[in-house]
Amino acid sequence: MKLPAEVTIYEVGPRDGLQNEARNVPTADKIRFIDALVASGIRDIEITSFVSPKWIPQLADSAEVARGVHRPAGVRMSALVPNRRGLDTALASGMKEIAVFLSASETHNKKNVNKTIADTLTAFDEVVKPALAAGVSVRAYVSTVFGCPYEGDVDPERSVELTGRLRDLGVYQVSLGDTIGVANPKQVEDVLGRVLAKHPASAIAVHFHDTQGTALANCVTALQMGITTIDAAAGGLGGCPYAPGASGNLATEDVVAMLHGMGIKTGIDLDKLTEASRTAASFVGHELPSKYLKAHLGKQARARRRAEMGS
Ligand code: HMG
Ligand code: MG
Repeated sequence: MKLPAEVTIYEVGPRDGLQNEARNVPTADKIRFIDALVASGIRDIEITSFVSPKWIPQLADSAEVARGVHRPAGVRMSALVPNRRGLDTALASGMKEIAVFLSASETHNKKNVNKTIADTLTAFDEVVKPALAAGVSVRAYVSTVFGCPYEGDVDPERSVELTGRLRDLGVYQVSLGDTIGVANPKQVEDVLGRVLAKHPASAIAVHFHDTQGTALANCVTALQMGITTIDAAAGGLGGCPYAPGASGNLATEDVVAMLHGMGIKTGIDLDKLTEASRTAASFVGHELPSKYLKAHLGKQARARRRAEMGS
């Protein structure tokens, strides 16, 4: 099996995860979560979104989060930005990296940002160019690459074309999103085969949701094709409020445990990462779907019971 020696985990829990939570998470808890993720060794974190609070009320405190987080050297923090207003607030809040986003299917794009795909690309001129001019790095997402909750199948050539348009604008990386978690390894091979024929693997990331339990298998296919950046959310938090039926993201600890088991380095301490997920579980008020986290907590509970019985 041809695999990379090292993989970059791009943590999206504080954004993609928390944007979907019913409970209002206090700003201080979000900052505690981000601090715990940094302490685990994660070096790339999407911390929030500078989107309309009318659309995503869960992240209405984006400026406070961005100003409140500790930013140790070597940690890159990013945030979603949909328009010029979001960029201005992000810059004023000290962001040095942002991410723009659009969908490969018209209906999801319209539901998500209230614009056609063509108008969204036009609006990016007001975001990407000034961001780059201000010395801010820009990443991009293409959503619904592998299926749309409204339209079903999506033409893979649409994602190839959009990836090209985004890279022409100057984004350093395009993350291909399985927004509703319907991708399978064969489809990943097909889409990545087409995209990687035109773009270097370092300019492409994968962003899987785990609705049907295929996210890890999809990652292995992507790794074999040369991808070295994987998006994931601690605990498997997440979903898109404008993609009904989408469940959480691939859980960071599930993919990190698999990678470490395969001898692939991530620079992440799995125990500390698990602690970060426990922190998140405590403030969202429900169990998180990560399989590794469940197994780890079960092991700890059994050890505690044995210790109590022994004492
Ligand atoms: P709109 O309603 O068409 O635009 O929204 P608008 O300009 O009329 O703005 C509506 C209101 O929001 C106005 O306030 C604006 O001022 C305000 P009002 O005048 O009514 O009081 N507003 C803002 N406020 C703060 N910051 C801003 C901002 N912009 C407008 N930046 C808009 C258009 C794009 C703003 C809206 O549709 C929006 O914010 N959408 C974001 C949706 C979103 O965040 N979705 C989830 C992220 S995408 C995702 O999860 C997928 C991904 O994970 C990858 C994958 O899984 O595939 C990335
Ligand atoms: Mg997502």
